[in-house]
Amino acid sequence: MADLSEFRKVYDKGFLVETDLPHSPFDLFENWFKAAAESGTYEANAMTLATATANGYPRARVVLLKSYDENGFVFFTNYESAKGRALAENPQVCLAFFWEEQERQVIIEGVAEKTSREVTHTYFQSRPRESQLGAWASPQSSEATREELIQKLEQLNEMYPNEIPTPEHWGGYVVKPTKIEFWQGRPSRLHDRIVFENENGSWKRYRVAP
Ligand SMILES: Cc1cc2nc3c(=O)[nH]c(=O)nc-3n(C[C@H](O)[C@H](O)[C@H](O)COP(=O)(O)O)c2cc1C
Repeated sequence: MADLSEFRKVYDKGFLVETDLPHSPFDLFENWFKAAAESGTYEANAMTLATATANGYPRARVVLLKSYDENGFVFFTNYESAKGRALAENPQVCLAFFWEEQERQVIIEGVAEKTSREVTHTYFQSRPRESQLGAWASPQSSEATREELIQKLEQLNEMYPNEIPTPEHWGGYVVKPTKIEFWQGRPSRLHDRIVFENENGSWKRYRVAP
């Protein structure tokens, strides 16, 4: 068995004090996201998205956060993928970010809804041509050979010499948060964890044990 017991670090790059915190978790998320991005984190917007089917089978994978505001956290994907099928059965999701440089984690629990077609269309049309063709060519999460995918990509490239239409099977989800937890690594494993929980439209804040 591979022994990883010596893989351990002391976390001492920051702390979370209630009196310093903004009232809105979105303001704190913005501060933390900017700190991660500005410190050169590779894909600071990469987040783990966990879904569960109606029968409770979980699956987690990384997707990219493409926008956020008080309405929620937006990512784009194939609606017919494994995650798309899980979300059609059960919209409850969890998002997790780990920003190594700051020794920080953010966990967002919430409900995913499809974005409007307008939001999807605007984003799809802003993507590079190769990514647009890829979205059309890939039956995401279904069995496919590399040759089939390349052939499909070439056919699509010829079929759409100019603008590429936005596929119906592809689009955004906005995760509307019910709970957002901010975790800051601290020495002696006494990490700081502050939870913001939405109660009837206003955010309640409390500390939980590490
Ligand atoms: C850094 C990174 C970013 C990714 N971004 C996305 C994304 O924004 N949307 C997406 O559908 N898949 C993205 N993927 C691929 C997913 O992790 C996953 O393989 C794919 O969505 C299929 O997942 P599913 O079969 O569980 O639906 C990304 C993977 C990595 C490693």
